[in-house]
Amino acid sequence: MAAAGSAVGLGSIWKFPYIVGENGGGAFIILYIVCSMIFGLPLVMNEFLVGKLSGKSAYGAFRALSGSGRWQWFAWLTMVSVMLLMSFYFVVTGWCFFYLVEAASNTFANMDSQALMTYFRTFERHAPLMTIYAIIAIVLTASVLWFDVNKGIERLSKILMPLLFLMLILMAFHMVFLDGGITGLRFLFEPDFSKLTPKVILEAVGLSFFTLSLGIGALITYGGYMPKEQNVTTTSIQMIVLVIVVSLLSGMIVFPAVFAYGFSPTEGPELTFVTLPAVFQHMFSPTLTSVSFFALMCVAALTSTISMMEVIVAFVCEATAETKRPLNRHQSVILVAAIQIVTNTLCILSMTGTVSWLTVMGNNFFDAANDLVTDVLIPIGALGMAVFTGWFVPKARYQGSRVASFIYLVILRWLVPIALIIIFLNSAKII
Ligand code: PHE
Repeated sequence: MAAAGSAVGLGSIWKFPYIVGENGGGAFIILYIVCSMIFGLPLVMNEFLVGKLSGKSAYGAFRALSGSGRWQWFAWLTMVSVMLLMSFYFVVTGWCFFYLVEAASNTFANMDSQALMTYFRTFERHAPLMTIYAIIAIVLTASVLWFDVNKGIERLSKILMPLLFLMLILMAFHMVFLDGGITGLRFLFEPDFSKLTPKVILEAVGLSFFTLSLGIGALITYGGYMPKEQNVTTTSIQMIVLVIVVSLLSGMIVFPAVFAYGFSPTEGPELTFVTLPAVFQHMFSPTLTSVSFFALMCVAALTSTISMMEVIVAFVCEATAETKRPLNRHQSVILVAAIQIVTNTLCILSMTGTVSWLTVMGNNFFDAANDLVTDVLIPIGALGMAVFTGWFVPKARYQGSRVASFIYLVILRWLVPIALIIIFLNSAKII
C-alpha cells in the first residue's frame, strides 16, 4: 500500500494528462504502457530487491550489495534527483491545496473555460500565495515524518485511495456521455504513429518511470522496509497495474472535458487544474464533488511527497552516521524541510517572474527542474540501477530470491541498458 501510495500521485493525475496532450494522444499512450511493462516491471522489482536484500536506503544499499564504495557517486546522484524533484513537486502539491480551498469556497461556480484559465494564470503569477501553499505541503509532509505517523497515513490511505479510485471511475463514466466525450476518448485511444519522434519516445520513458517512482531510490528505501515474506513480484505487478489504470482514468476524464468545454489538449501543466473544475460544475452537487476530489488529490500527492522526503531523510541519517556529526531522524527532517522551503520558493520566484534573472538556459526553474528530472535524471537513474544489478552485484547475492535469474542476466544486463542508451542517443540526435 505504501508503494502504491508513493507511485499513485501527481504523476498520474497532473503530469500524465498534459504530457499525453502535448504528445498527440493514442500512440504515446501505447508507448507509455509498453514501456511501463517491459522496462518498468523488471526495474521496479529490481529496486525493491536492492532495498530488501540490503535492508538499507539508497545510501547504504549500493555498497552493501556490491561490496565496494565505487557506486557511492551514483547514490549521491539519486539524491540530487530527489531534491530537484521535490523542488517542483511541492509547488504542484500546493496547487492542489489551493484548489481544495477554492473549491470549498465555491469560487469556480459558473466560471466558463476562459474564466477558469484566466483564474489559474492569475494564481500562477501570485508568488506569495503559491509559496504559502507549497510551504503548507512541505510542513505537512515533514510533520508526518517527524511524528513518525507513516503507519497512520498508510492506514488512512487504505481507505482514501480506493475512494479516489472509485471517484475517478465514476467521473470517467460520466464523461463518456458528454458532447465531445467520444472525441476526447478517440484522442486518447486512437493511435497516430506519425506523431512518434525520438524526443517523444524519451518522454514516454521518462513519464512511465516518473509515475512508477523509479530511478531515484524511492523504491529501494521502501524495499528496505519490506518484510521478508513479502513477494516482490506480486507487489510490483499490482503497483504497476494500479498506476497505469489511474493514469488512464485521469486521461479519460481530462480529454473528454478538453473537447467538451473548449480547452486545448496542449495546454501544458495547468491542464488538469483548468479542466477538472469545469467537469465538476456539470456533476451532481458540484461543491461536494469538487471538494472531495481535491481532498483526495491532496492525499495522493502527500503520500508521494512523504515517500520522497523519506528517501532523503533515510539517506541523510545513514550518510551522517559515519561522520563525527551524525544527524538523527528529527534533525534530518528539519534540514531537508528547510532546504525544500528554500528551493521551492526559488522555483516559485523564477516561475512567476518575480525575480527575472532566476532562469536556466531561458527556462524558469519549475520547467527546467521538471524536464531535467523527468527526461534525464530519472531515466539515467533507472539505467544506472539496471547496470548496477546486472553487472556489479555478485550473482550469489540473488540466490534464494524468487526472481528468475533471467531478469538479471538478460533484461537488466542487456535489454534495459541497450534500449535506454539507444533512446537517449536517438533523442539527442546522435544516432
Ligand atoms: N510516482 C509519483 C507520482 O506519480 C512521483 C514519485 C517519483 C514519487 C519518484 C516518488 C519517487 O506522482
